[in-house]
Amino acid sequence: MPKSHSDIGLIGLAVMGQNLALNIADHGFQISVYNRTTEKTETFVAENPATPGGLVGAKTLEEFVQSLAKPRKMIILVQAGAPTDAVIDSLVPLLEKNDIIIDGGNAKWTDTIRREKALREKGLRFIGSGVSGGEIGARFGPALMPGGDPAAYKEIEPVWNAIAAKVDGKTGRPILGATAGKPVSGGVPCSTYIGPDGAGHYVKMIHNGIEYGDMQMICEAYDLMRGLLGMKAEEIGQVFAEWNRGALDSYLIEITADILQQKDPTNKKKALVDVILDTAGQKGTGKWTSVNALDMGVPAPTVAEAVFARCLSAIKDERVAASKILKGPAKKKYTGAKKALIQAIHDALYCSKICSYAQGFQLMREAQKEYKWTLDFGSIAQIWRGGCIIRAVFLQKITEAYGRNPQLANLLLDPYFNKTVKAAQENWRKVVSLAVQYGVPAPTFGSALSYYDGYRSARLPANLLQGQRDYFGAHTYERVDQPRGKFFHVDWPENPRPQIAMK
Ligand code: 6PG
Repeated sequence: MPKSHSDIGLIGLAVMGQNLALNIADHGFQISVYNRTTEKTETFVAENPATPGGLVGAKTLEEFVQSLAKPRKMIILVQAGAPTDAVIDSLVPLLEKNDIIIDGGNAKWTDTIRREKALREKGLRFIGSGVSGGEIGARFGPALMPGGDPAAYKEIEPVWNAIAAKVDGKTGRPILGATAGKPVSGGVPCSTYIGPDGAGHYVKMIHNGIEYGDMQMICEAYDLMRGLLGMKAEEIGQVFAEWNRGALDSYLIEITADILQQKDPTNKKKALVDVILDTAGQKGTGKWTSVNALDMGVPAPTVAEAVFARCLSAIKDERVAASKILKGPAKKKYTGAKKALIQAIHDALYCSKICSYAQGFQLMREAQKEYKWTLDFGSIAQIWRGGCIIRAVFLQKITEAYGRNPQLANLLLDPYFNKTVKAAQENWRKVVSLAVQYGVPAPTFGSALSYYDGYRSARLPANLLQGQRDYFGAHTYERVDQPRGKFFHVDWPENPRPQIAMK
């Protein structure tokens, strides 16, 4: 017997919207759905007649809004940016005080801050929730990163906790379900209230920046095995499958093993990966992360390198032309032990990953100051343990690190990560130098290593840089033998300042 009013609604029945709606209905919530094209709504409802909660199709936005129990809760899952604003604008006149709009798209956190404020001024409540895990995650258990009005969050919490992926509370191990194609129950939900206004979407953006870094690092490991050891895709896939049983155990390593072992459907003799064009796309969240790092002055070079690596891959024609003109080192075969080099590449990947996550968490630490949020880094790492694209055993170590010290200045300083990098760094350095010698580009491995070396340097060459700034621009410098904040300038004898500037 359908309820007279639905528990929640969802606007936007593209792939993510349909899967999320079915996940919600599977958990016993009645959900109203609306899509701009009515036919899509009707087909979707007709094709899914027997969900535990029930789907209610609405032909118009008015009908959709009227079908919801008050305070109305409605999820928007349309394209980020202008389309989201357009839906909000058409909803607002139909809503009443205290109704809740939830944006589940990959919105820019600054847009979420703006929308939350504008809606609050109208007496409406707004939640910006990161949703990660692709279509399978949306269907059977995503990681959810809700931010916004805390009282509004309490209203949607039962739904969010029910539909999220689940992990074991003690070990952090994901509870199988999502990958097995079944709804999950029991365990700790991979969803937690992140903070006010744009905090949820900010954390989702950092998730995506880290995702870009992870993906590029895996690509570099693959390229090094190919370039230095001449290994074929299938064999490299087996190495990744093996790595997935150890410290690198993660969704992205798991799918990489599958992808590399997949044959081309049109020519079974070939590996599919060998016929995929080497130009990467991107929708912008990695770029936002990098721009934000630059804006806040936080060193996060590894994610930025991952974004630039995609940009470089995209200029395929230019690279093909350049490959005929620019020469690298003379081609030679790597003659060292194969097994040892594969282990070294594993270690380089693990150490680079630690640095990349260290940078991501540094960004969140700085953002919380900028936006006056109080982020719980241990919980954030915990909710990323299941459902999302970067889910990995490794994240448990991050939760434990923040458990030991919630004020941890940098992940690298945690005893576990410090010890791990110390033990593996020789291999990391070997791989980066081999990449340089053999002319195999490894931008994230190299940049992460430079970050590590820079971060552990009590003294960097910025003394000379300040000298240069003072020389050409009288920008002043501080001295090692004077208190911080006291600035000095030298009238450089070789660079007398123009008379006019002296007046
Ligand atoms: C997720 C993903 C997802 C993102 C894709 C594609 O957490 O489920 O981050 O939100 O849209 O990964 O991103 P790009 O097109 O930028 O690679």
